[in-house]
Amino acid sequence: MTTSSWGGGGGGGGGAVRLWCCGLLLMLLSGGGGAAAQRPPAYKTLSGKAPLVIAKGGFSGVFPDSSQNAYVFALSSTSGDTTLWCDVQLTKDGVGICLRDLLMNNCTSIKQAYPAGEKAYIVNGQRSKGWFPIDYTISSLQSVILTQAIWSRTDKFDFAYLPILAVTNVTDFAKSSSVWLNIEHDIFYRQHGLNMTKYILSISKGGSVQYISSPELGFLQSISGRVNRKTKLVFRFLDATSSDPSSNQTYGYLLSNLTFIKTVASGIMVPKEYIWPVTTNNYIQPAKSIVRDAHSAGLEIYASDFANDRTIPYNYSYDPLEEYLHFVASDNFSVDGVLSEFPLTAAAAIGCFTNLNVSSKTDHGSPLIISHNGASGDYPDCTDLAYQKAVDDGADVIDCSIQMTSDGVPVCMSSINLFDTTNVQRTSFSNRASIFKDIQPTPGIFTFNLTWAEISSSDLRPKISSPESIYYLVRNPVYRNAGNFFRLSDFLTFAKDKDLSGIMIIIKNAVFMANSLGFDVVDSVTKALSDAGYNNQTTKAKEVMIQSEDSAVLVNLKQLETKYKLVYTLPSTIGDASASSLVDVKKFADAVIVERESIFPESQGFIMKETNLVKDLRSAGLAIYAQVFRNEFVSPPWDFFSDVTVEINSYVQLVNIDGIITDFPKTVRRYKMNSCTGLGVNMPSYMNPAEIGVLAQLLNGSQAQPPALAPMPVLNSSDVTEPPFPSAAPKNAPGGAANGSTPAPGASPSGSQAAAVMRAGILPMVTALFASLLI
Ligand SMILES: *[C@@H]1O[C@H](CO)[C@@H](O)[C@H](O)[C@H]1NC(C)=O
Ligand SMILES: *[C@@H]1O[C@H](CO)[C@@H](O)[C@H](O)[C@H]1NC(C)=O
Ligand SMILES: *[C@@H]1O[C@H](CO)[C@@H](O)[C@H](O)[C@H]1NC(C)=O
Ligand SMILES: *[C@@H]1O[C@H](CO)[C@@H](O)[C@H](O)[C@H]1NC(C)=O
Ligand SMILES: *[C@@H]1O[C@H](CO)[C@@H](O)[C@H](O)[C@H]1NC(C)=O
Ligand SMILES: *[C@@H]1O[C@H](CO)[C@@H](O)[C@H](O)[C@H]1NC(C)=O
Ligand SMILES: *[C@@H]1O[C@H](CO)[C@@H](O)[C@H](O)[C@H]1NC(C)=O
Ligand SMILES: *[C@@H]1O[C@H](CO)[C@@H](O)[C@H](O)[C@H]1NC(C)=O
Ligand SMILES: *[C@@H]1O[C@H](CO)[C@@H](O)[C@H](O)[C@H]1NC(C)=O
Ligand SMILES: *[C@@H]1O[C@H](CO)[C@@H](O)[C@H](O)[C@H]1NC(C)=O
Ligand SMILES: *[C@@H]1O[C@H](CO)[C@@H](O)[C@H](O)[C@H]1NC(C)=O
Ligand SMILES: *[C@@H]1O[C@H](CO)[C@@H](O)[C@H](O)[C@H]1NC(C)=O
Repeated sequence: MTTSSWGGGGGGGGGAVRLWCCGLLLMLLSGGGGAAAQRPPAYKTLSGKAPLVIAKGGFSGVFPDSSQNAYVFALSSTSGDTTLWCDVQLTKDGVGICLRDLLMNNCTSIKQAYPAGEKAYIVNGQRSKGWFPIDYTISSLQSVILTQAIWSRTDKFDFAYLPILAVTNVTDFAKSSSVWLNIEHDIFYRQHGLNMTKYILSISKGGSVQYISSPELGFLQSISGRVNRKTKLVFRFLDATSSDPSSNQTYGYLLSNLTFIKTVASGIMVPKEYIWPVTTNNYIQPAKSIVRDAHSAGLEIYASDFANDRTIPYNYSYDPLEEYLHFVASDNFSVDGVLSEFPLTAAAAIGCFTNLNVSSKTDHGSPLIISHNGASGDYPDCTDLAYQKAVDDGADVIDCSIQMTSDGVPVCMSSINLFDTTNVQRTSFSNRASIFKDIQPTPGIFTFNLTWAEISSSDLRPKISSPESIYYLVRNPVYRNAGNFFRLSDFLTFAKDKDLSGIMIIIKNAVFMANSLGFDVVDSVTKALSDAGYNNQTTKAKEVMIQSEDSAVLVNLKQLETKYKLVYTLPSTIGDASASSLVDVKKFADAVIVERESIFPESQGFIMKETNLVKDLRSAGLAIYAQVFRNEFVSPPWDFFSDVTVEINSYVQLVNIDGIITDFPKTVRRYKMNSCTGLGVNMPSYMNPAEIGVLAQLLNGSQAQPPALAPMPVLNSSDVTEPPFPSAAPKNAPGGAANGSTPAPGASPSGSQAAAVMRAGILPMVTALFASLLI
């Protein structure tokens, strides 16, 4: 069976096993499969050719490992530039099948098909319990389907009911692409009367298998010289302290004898930590010399264990592409290939992101890279370190969210509540909690309850943000309390001589601050800008953007006839905007900020459609900035394959977004510098944008279909119209503090009582495990 015979088929096989229509799989990325990217001439691989992308069980990061869908999509999403990896297991009747584990429990439906089939066997000296392929003939496995083995991935694609594949099915799919067979358990199969050597020799005769790997040196010796001459043998290193059961030597020991390995194999595969060692607290250490050692022994070296949705060392800022670049485009070396469950990201890293001139600055062209609290993915929000990193990483615009101190100093901070941004509950200011219903229903310690001297004192430390902590993803622990806050004046001075196209100042809670605290924030901001010379500055002119979700603030600024660019933040849930509301917005704003989900709304992590919002905003002549882009793999919807670069690429190519607001400016900057999106018809398929809604369409009609979207409100004129901005009541004037700030009954904000409320009510929400990292 060849790919073309099922390419257009719908429904597919009968009986217990039903196949999806496969045509859709080819459309997950829009546009045709272009040619591979023009390769920069030299890679520091052994051959000098581009490193190989090896798709482990196909695109197993999305579809069940070793399934037809996983293999087909691995090829279609990478212009066929991928080697298909199959973990070979043998059935009772000696047929080779592809399955990620010797135990079938997690990667198939075997438990449901044969509930009584559990057995215990000795595997490499260890007793192991579960369902083993040696107990089933190929025909008895017809009723078993492949399932997603990794708990953090969606299991919805299990409902495609995909059958277990024979090794020969995979060599058929591969057509002109290459196939890599990995044999983990030759000794085990031999102990059960099955001859893996014989099977592999029979299958590799045709020459469709280009690579054979095994962690058992004895197995490679048994086929060495007996396979097709073009087939490369690769010795696979496992954990350094474990032993190769065929030689009883540890992998760590075998590593010291590469010249011996070379007599059997033409390459080695190592876990990625062999190359870039990782500390117990998950930071990488300087690279080992292993790549150079292997190359000087004449061995190719492949790195394993890449996946976009696994925790990677903090040095990579949660960006899987950055990790690949350390292996394929390091200053000193390149591995000869990477084994990945998300081959698209690996292919893009190699084809479009190596050999970029990182010292060339961006031109500040579209899309604008707008920081979100500075480079808050790497350092605590709005600190000097976060802003410096944003500048170093090539942000075009840095942002400051204005909060006010009790002595009326405007400062940059992502939240009005110091619980969110500092360790305040561990300081002498912990008794300053109060409740302000206009801000939040629970107690907080607010910036306006501390002076600037107190906020900048060494007792109070900034705290790194953790927007994905419910998934146990915390940010850069080494710097979790590093840096110092900026006053607005410090921020303006800092930004002045930096290579930025502009700054963005964000005004929130202005009405509350005017009515309840007597602060005129708009006035404070305009005064600070003029004091810092942003009004009369002629050289290195920076665009000043002022952002608010309150139209009254922008209307007020518009009346002042400043040169500032006014940016309106749209409500987070809207899916469209009425024509009349846009006429109103246009009166006071030049640009708008929208949430990502207002453009591509999701249901259970699947994008369901593209809304009309962008089209309507654009026809009103408004620039559109989308927020907030985050690298953590849980942030993009499934459609972007846990890779924020795919997400950014899709917003750029599909909706031509004018600005990207991000916690990780470096990732966006590198995207803007890629060497592929300018290639026109020659752009490789892995740089095509995702095809919106196709994953959900794949599930259409199955039990796994995500629920329909709830209706999204349409922005209307009444949303946009607010009462005029109040003039600030003088501070401490009678009635000033009382207006809208009455503390909740029984929750006196004074002293340790409130602190007790806070500890009881808030801290338990942080899991005990991560409390120490978050605070
Ligand atoms: C199955 O998955 C669970 C959870 O991820 C894991 O603990 C277990 O070791 C896996 N079992 C096998 C046989 O892979
Ligand atoms: C796998 O190969 C077998 C034998 O050639 C064939 O009957 C079957 O249809 C193939 N399965 C798929 C999904 O291509
Ligand atoms: C397994 O098959 C190979 C190749 O046919 C053969 O050389 C070898 O002796 C066989 N091993 C056993 C234990 O039968
Ligand atoms: C390795 O150790 C096992 C168990 O002790 C033994 O059965 C086997 O013969 C040994 N193999 C070699 C090559 O020494
Ligand atoms: C490398 O392995 C071979 C075969 O086991 C052995 O003869 C040789 O002494 C080893 N060399 C070193 C340096 O350990
Ligand atoms: C990784 O990050 C840590 C913490 O910032 C740093 O100490 C270390 O040098 C980094 N590793 C490399 C290889 O740069
Ligand atoms: C990489 O190259 C740099 C500069 O050439 C050198 O200092 C460093 O030791 C090299 N690292 C390795 C692992 O070879
Ligand atoms: C990299 O960019 C810088 C700045 O634009 C330029 O001066 C330099 O020549 C570039 N290097 C290469 C190798 O193109
Ligand atoms: C915080 O500041 C507000 C406004 O000035 C004031 O009403 C409140 O009493 C203060 N709370 C504490 C605990 O100092
Ligand atoms: C810009 O304005 C500031 C404050 O208004 C003033 O101190 C400064 O001298 C002005 N600079 C120029 C070049 O006019
Ligand atoms: C699902 O299929 C139905 C009927 O074929 C179609 O009307 C609907 O638009 C599809 N939904 C999606 C999300 O593709
Ligand atoms: C405007 O939208 C709000 C909520 O977004 C809704 O309550 C209100 O009824 C809408 N008004 C009109 C005139 O559609």
